[in-house]
Amino acid sequence: MVRRPASHNANIDDKFHCFSVNAITIAEAGTVEKVNVAEKFKEIEDYWNPRIVGELNGQQVKLVRLKGEFVWHHHENEDEMFLVVKGKFRIEFHDRQVWLNEGEFIVVPRNVEHRPVAEEDAHVLLFEPASTLNTGNVRNERTRDRLHTL
Ligand code: NI
Repeated sequence: MVRRPASHNANIDDKFHCFSVNAITIAEAGTVEKVNVAEKFKEIEDYWNPRIVGELNGQQVKLVRLKGEFVWHHHENEDEMFLVVKGKFRIEFHDRQVWLNEGEFIVVPRNVEHRPVAEEDAHVLLFEPASTLNTGNVRNERTRDRLHTL
C-alpha cells in the first residue's frame, strides 16, 4: 500500500506521490510470486527438517513435517510461531501442554523451554527470524544448520 503524507501543499503532495510510484517498478512487481503451501509440502518427505519458502523483514516462512518427539530446547533471541496446516501436534512446556489443530497457531516466546510432539504426521508452517536454529540452545542429530529453500 502506498501511503501519502497529509499535506496542505499540493505540490509537495505530488512530489511524494511521484516518489512512491517510482519506488515500486513494474520489473520488481513482476518477480512477486504466490506460494501454494500444499504443493510445497508435496516436496517434503522427511521430518524435523524445515524448508524455507519465504522471507520478509529478516523473518523466514518455513514448512516442516513433524512426527514423533522433538528435543527440549529454547531460543534466546527469537519468538517462534507454529501454524498447523494439516494434522495436529502438541507443544509441551514444563508446566503444561498445548494441542494445536489444523488452522491454529501459537507463538512461543523467546527463552521459554518447549518441545513439539506429533503423534502422527503434522504439516506445520513456521514464522520466525532467519537466525532461528531449529534446536535452539541444543545441538544434536536433529540440528539443521543450513536449511534448503523450496
Ligand atoms: Ni523451538
